[in-house]
Amino acid sequence: MADSIFKNYLEKKNTLIRNRGILQSTYVPEQLLHRDQQISDIADIIAPSLKHDKPSNILIIGKTGTGKTAVVNYIGKELKKADPDEINCQYIYINCEVIDTPYSILYNISNYIITDPNKKIPFTGWSLERIFSELTKFIDDKNKVFVIVLDEIDKSFKRNGDDIFYYLTTINEMLKKSRVSIIGITNNSKFTEECLTPKIRSRLGEEKIIFPPYTPDQLIDIMNERAKDAFYPGALDPSVVPLCAGISAQDSGDARKALDLLRISADIAERNGDPIINDAHVNYARQKIELDAVTEIIKTLTDQSKIVLMSIIKNPGDDNGTITTGDVYTVYREICSILGYTILTQRRVADLISELDMLGIINARVKSFGRKGRTKEIDINVSKEVITLINNDEIFHNLGNYKPCKQTTLM
Ligand SMILES: Nc1ncnc2c1ncn2[C@@H]1O[C@H](COP(=O)(O)OP(=O)(O)OP(=O)(O)O)[C@@H](O)[C@H]1O
Ligand SMILES: [Mg+2]
Repeated sequence: MADSIFKNYLEKKNTLIRNRGILQSTYVPEQLLHRDQQISDIADIIAPSLKHDKPSNILIIGKTGTGKTAVVNYIGKELKKADPDEINCQYIYINCEVIDTPYSILYNISNYIITDPNKKIPFTGWSLERIFSELTKFIDDKNKVFVIVLDEIDKSFKRNGDDIFYYLTTINEMLKKSRVSIIGITNNSKFTEECLTPKIRSRLGEEKIIFPPYTPDQLIDIMNERAKDAFYPGALDPSVVPLCAGISAQDSGDARKALDLLRISADIAERNGDPIINDAHVNYARQKIELDAVTEIIKTLTDQSKIVLMSIIKNPGDDNGTITTGDVYTVYREICSILGYTILTQRRVADLISELDMLGIINARVKSFGRKGRTKEIDINVSKEVITLINNDEIFHNLGNYKPCKQTTLM
């Protein structure tokens, strides 16, 4: 082998991880534990498609990492097993986060359906009405039931409104031979109530299936199942899987997060050349994941939001860590002046504080609302990671050793 900077990597033998792919979130496991109920509910609803009858539309709701996509794709595979030549039923999967315009959704559906290259719908250029009516003809010609999954439908709605759902849920009225049934998936439980018109809501949600967060014990089972093939025997300290499960269950019962934590812990141990994966690796991995997440969010902040954040960090507050929005605003104005930024109104700065709170970058708790001109008192916590990232942000290079003159409350 020619010398390469990767030589050591290639020659090093993995002692802990036997198959890293199994721990990736894209890996499709053979069996989906603790989802028997959801699988059988969905299968019961979808089964009529195999006899050429139209199943009800289904709306699947559950938080992130609760197995929605995995379960639906498992059902798709089982449908194909039951009807390998797709005589009666064809399964179509669209992820609306990736395929994100009504045109591209219809274009992608058409690619599953129109096999003749001369009749393909063009990638761009047609009006939506034209693509609607062409596609409807092709669908009807096939004379079968199409089960169309729209994963992450809230993402499509946010960008495009609900025309596409309207079209796909009313298409059956235009079909004579074929039938279309929709499975919508969302992790936003408020989505249907808040975003869809009553008509579309009742059409799309003819059947609703809820995916609850996994409990710690269920996460342990899911991880153990993967760990069997992913690691060499003895690679895992017995406390590692329960620790990963506890951390992930506490946050959200998210299997993706649990598996990520396990994989990153294993990577850290492997890279260190440690003989076993233990709790210390998990704790380190958790910090790394959190740091990566806040780094991503901080990258997206505007300069004004960063200055507000800096104004919070520079405010020591009283003994209990309480500061007022007025305190933040005073420091904010000073920093803007030093750095040469436009000074926004206090009202706007208060909005930016709320935004930072919603993003989870700060943790603000309102203690009392201002009376007689005093501003809102808040307890604010900012993590060490955020403080370090903001202190190192290039927009503050000219701030030097700035310290607020004194704690003043702006009336
Ligand atoms: N019951 C289960 N058994 C085994 N693995 C599972 C199970 N549930 C989820 N997973 C795994 O966890 C990860 C996340 O699952 P999935 O992508 O299905 O979540 P989701 O509910 O679609 O989340 P999101 O709302 O973020 O799209 C995947 O790697 C999946 O294989
Ligand atoms: Mg998903």
